[in-house]
Amino acid sequence: MKPQTAPLIVRTALREAFALLRAAGVPSHTLAAELLLMHALGRDRTWLYAHPEEVIRDFEVHLFTSLLARRAAGEPTQHLTGKQEFWSLEFEVTLDVLIPRPETEHVIEVALDRLAIREIRAGRKQTFSGEGLQIADVGTGSGCIAVALAKELPGATIQATDISSAALAVARRNATRQSVYDQIHFLESNLLDEASHLPLFFDLIVSNPPYIGRREAATLMREVRDHEPEIALYGGEEGYELYAELIAQAGAKLKPGGILVLELGHNSLPAVQPLLDAHTWTNVGVTNDLAGIPRVLAAERL
Ligand SMILES: C[S@@+](CC[C@H](N)C(=O)[O-])C[C@H]1O[C@@H](n2cnc3c(N)ncnc32)[C@H](O)[C@@H]1O
Repeated sequence: MKPQTAPLIVRTALREAFALLRAAGVPSHTLAAELLLMHALGRDRTWLYAHPEEVIRDFEVHLFTSLLARRAAGEPTQHLTGKQEFWSLEFEVTLDVLIPRPETEHVIEVALDRLAIREIRAGRKQTFSGEGLQIADVGTGSGCIAVALAKELPGATIQATDISSAALAVARRNATRQSVYDQIHFLESNLLDEASHLPLFFDLIVSNPPYIGRREAATLMREVRDHEPEIALYGGEEGYELYAELIAQAGAKLKPGGILVLELGHNSLPAVQPLLDAHTWTNVGVTNDLAGIPRVLAAERL
């Protein structure tokens, strides 16, 4: 922000913030400036645009100025506000978890569609609370997939695994915040290793595993490469290395007719789809994201 001679009002603060973030090459700079001002003032967007002449108090100007400087230097907006919306729910995010991405909502859509089709095939009623379903979310991170499924399927029980205990702490807080803590069991585990000891088989296994190749690191946006946890980003040198073990474990832990839903990296499909061998899997389907990239691979255990 420029040094102020007159009191700073909302309209001027926004205009200057747009210019500053645009000059710094921040993607979606308008949205970022709005979110940071909303955060600094503790107001929503409707209030900002309904009160363009409102004077901003000094301590809020200082806070907003420091948030803008950090955003211009590459820190993700969500790390500055501490939150991200996913599936119309608000999630806490910290440096220990991947920021939930909009394309991951396709994982939820595909999982719910596949479960609904299974119910219809079985001749059961279509309004369905997931009563008795056993679900696993592998690599839960912020818990966004597990929590969204728990909200949609209040009768289901979910095992949410992650290799990072710090991520699991965030996921637990998100489950509490969304009032689904009792439905989700959190396991510190490599993939499904710890679940393999449990005397249960799953109706649904979902996962958004790390899938970026280390050799692609230089092509990532600085917000991602320099600020999100490496363990959440990289799946190996190529990116798709974790899928083989994940698919083998899912094959062993799904019930017959159970469903596997995996998020894919932008170029993972040719390496991952052949892992779904015809002796174990049927009804293999691919769903593109809004950018036309094959994003979700789903299959049914024979
Ligand atoms: C791409 S992030 C996905 C997080 C969250 N599910 C989402 O969709 O936003 C991958 C997550 O998998 C975890 N992870 C990485 N390797 C793992 C492994 N071998 N076993 C279990 N979790 C792992 C990371 O800690 C991270 O939280």
